[in-house]
Amino acid sequence: MADTYSTLLIERHTDGYAVVTLNRPEALNALNSQLLGELGDFLEAAERDDSIRAVVLTGSAKAFAAGADIKEMSDKSYADMYLENFFARAHDRVAAFRKPIIAAVSGYALGGGCELAMLCDFIIASDTAKFGQPEINLGVAPGIGGSQRLTRAVGKAKAMDMCLTARMMDAAEAERSGLVSRVVAVDALLDEARKVAAKIAAQSPLAVIANKELVNAAFDTTLSQGLQFERRLFHSLFAFDDQKEGMAAFVEKRKPVFTSR
Ligand code: CAA
Repeated sequence: MADTYSTLLIERHTDGYAVVTLNRPEALNALNSQLLGELGDFLEAAERDDSIRAVVLTGSAKAFAAGADIKEMSDKSYADMYLENFFARAHDRVAAFRKPIIAAVSGYALGGGCELAMLCDFIIASDTAKFGQPEINLGVAPGIGGSQRLTRAVGKAKAMDMCLTARMMDAAEAERSGLVSRVVAVDALLDEARKVAAKIAAQSPLAVIANKELVNAAFDTTLSQGLQFERRLFHSLFAFDDQKEGMAAFVEKRKPVFTSR
């Protein structure tokens, strides 16, 4: 697979993961259609590539991404937005990625940048990270899931506050509020994200996909449907060698060697 993109840098690691760096420094990684198209293309290729079992998505120290590209959007008409179904395809391509994708966020994650981070499975933030949905300042509202995912992550009070006032949340508040899973020093961010990705990549790919599907199901189902789905998926994992290996390794006090693809 050729990793040649003009708005992304790709690093592949022998530990079974890739680091994708958003690379439009001149625009603080603003998300334009080229970048979102390239990200979707990379994720589609990574889905089929057995050497990639997890992805880290990151930006620069100053900005994960400062939002959708305002300059690209500013002259669009309602007809353009409606006919292009603006951002729907980009959203759906990231949401459809079945392998774990971890956002490693430093600096600004605003508007579409915050939404892209929230589309990932979880967010590791540096202590310089700043999250916000400032679209109201531009006379619009979030358009890549921000109003829904932020509210589910941090609750109505903080989501309303951020969307209506454009206030940014710093890393400490984001961790307290449940938006990010951990906060580390800015210089340690990529190392931490790499360790997390390598750890996930070493697990059974079947168990990894099952765990991701199960947690995501909690957002779309009733509790009883979710519990039923969990029970069935848990039962189904006993069909695979990795369950036998994982449990045998525990009993024999050794490291498991998972062999499913
Ligand atoms: N789109 C396009 N260009 C952007 C951008 C964006 N979202 N954010 C920053 N840039 C560009 C700036 O225009 C500037 O380019 P020039 O040098 O050519 O003027 C360059 O990046 C550097 O930015 P600043 O000079 O503004 O940097 P700063 O350090 O002074 O400020 C900032 C940083 C507070 C993040 C500020 O850039 C900012 O407020 N950016 C916009 C944030 C925003 O409103 N995001 C929401 C976008 S709308 C959206 O995302 C809709 C949606 O949900 C789908």
